[in-house]
Amino acid sequence: MNVYDSVRMQDVMAPLGYQVSETYEDADLVVLNTCHIREKAEEKVYSELGRIRKEKEEKKNRGGQMLIAVSGCVAQAEGEEIMKRAPFVDMVLGTQSYHLLPEMVTKAIRKEGKVIELDFPQVQKFDLLPEVTSSQGVSAFIAVQEGCDKFCTFCVVPYTRGAEYSRPMAAIVKEARALVDHGALEIMLLGQNVNAYHGGGSLADLIAELANINGLERIRYTTSHPRDMSDDLIAIHGSEKKLMPYLHLPIQSGSDAILKKMNRKHDAAFYLDILTRLKKARPDIALSSDFIVGFPGESEKDFEATMEIVREVGYASAFSFKYSPRPGTPAAVDQYQVSEEIKDERLARLQALIAAKQLAFNQSSVGKTMPVLFDRDGKFEGQLVGKTPYLQSVYIQNREHLRGTIADIHITGGYANSLTGDIIEPLLRKAS
Ligand code: 5AD
Ligand code: SF4
Repeated sequence: MNVYDSVRMQDVMAPLGYQVSETYEDADLVVLNTCHIREKAEEKVYSELGRIRKEKEEKKNRGGQMLIAVSGCVAQAEGEEIMKRAPFVDMVLGTQSYHLLPEMVTKAIRKEGKVIELDFPQVQKFDLLPEVTSSQGVSAFIAVQEGCDKFCTFCVVPYTRGAEYSRPMAAIVKEARALVDHGALEIMLLGQNVNAYHGGGSLADLIAELANINGLERIRYTTSHPRDMSDDLIAIHGSEKKLMPYLHLPIQSGSDAILKKMNRKHDAAFYLDILTRLKKARPDIALSSDFIVGFPGESEKDFEATMEIVREVGYASAFSFKYSPRPGTPAAVDQYQVSEEIKDERLARLQALIAAKQLAFNQSSVGKTMPVLFDRDGKFEGQLVGKTPYLQSVYIQNREHLRGTIADIHITGGYANSLTGDIIEPLLRKAS
């Protein structure tokens, strides 16, 4: 979502003549777009700001000027505190304010003091943003839903991103068409609780609508909540070929007692039943999840239930985190906090299991031929990286002509985090 927001800030600044710069030296404006979901988010922001301050001073010494803005969830949570602790910051804008950036920049240039925007306005920022102007390449994001009303007891999102909101379907379809016109072959629909989408139709309705766009080949969505995995959404996984056979559906914990304390509004059986129905609709669907270890009160038995879910489901990939108390959330003041040592130890065990499952999944791809979307360059000369339908990264060598295309690739190697492969060469006829 932050990547998407950054691109939209680019779009909003373009009419003022701003473009993305590769270096601090060239930058007249630096926007630090922040995340508050886990760990010492504020500390990271202040140390990064320390670095940017030096760049600002150097630029000033050269006779130039650099404005500094802090945006995103840390800005929303910290507000004016940022200006106090980092007085060289010119602007602080919350998650619902990035459409105001041009106005804020103008004010800051006129030296009208520090500019702060943290409101959750009645008018949606999406309605005030210009049309998409920057290309996101062959693989693009669209925010279709924002905010969350679920209030899991560990999570800051309902506070930093606000109440759940769905953009109208027509606006999303228009944005998707613009992205496809700019070269997108794949669109990832984004939302903190994306499957709760209800912008004039369900998420399944939106996917069906987007699938009609000529030139759009792949549709994905993230992140979903088990409670909102509606029947029509499960069904469209079986009927819509453009919808990729991959779903990120976080369970967070395998223990019903912990799920209850997390206020997840579902138990493990409910979640597993959804997976069964999804596999019935789309037998090859690959699954992914988020897990939190060391949530307050988590016993060894609770943790073992999480391990059991991973063994049973056999995820294609998964993200796992140590519980991190977030200021203002109920779980942060729970008296039964788990020690760092136990969190570290459980995370290591869980990650080893997830890695083994992921490796097994990747190795099961060897020998298959899959359509791969080559969306980025690799680190090495002549290397391209692409994505399979199951979101595995595929590395390929010396096939420059495949950049930005979807090609059938024969998978030759399966590793911890990636695959290797090549196109099947047409057999060359020998000169007689
Ligand atoms: N501590 C640890 N992990 C968290 N997440 C959200 N809040 C916290 C927290 N306080 C994780 C959840 C969520 C993912 C985006 O981040 O697993 O699904
Ligand atoms: Fe946070 Fe997701 Fe729970 Fe919403 S559903 S509160 S975004 S973890």
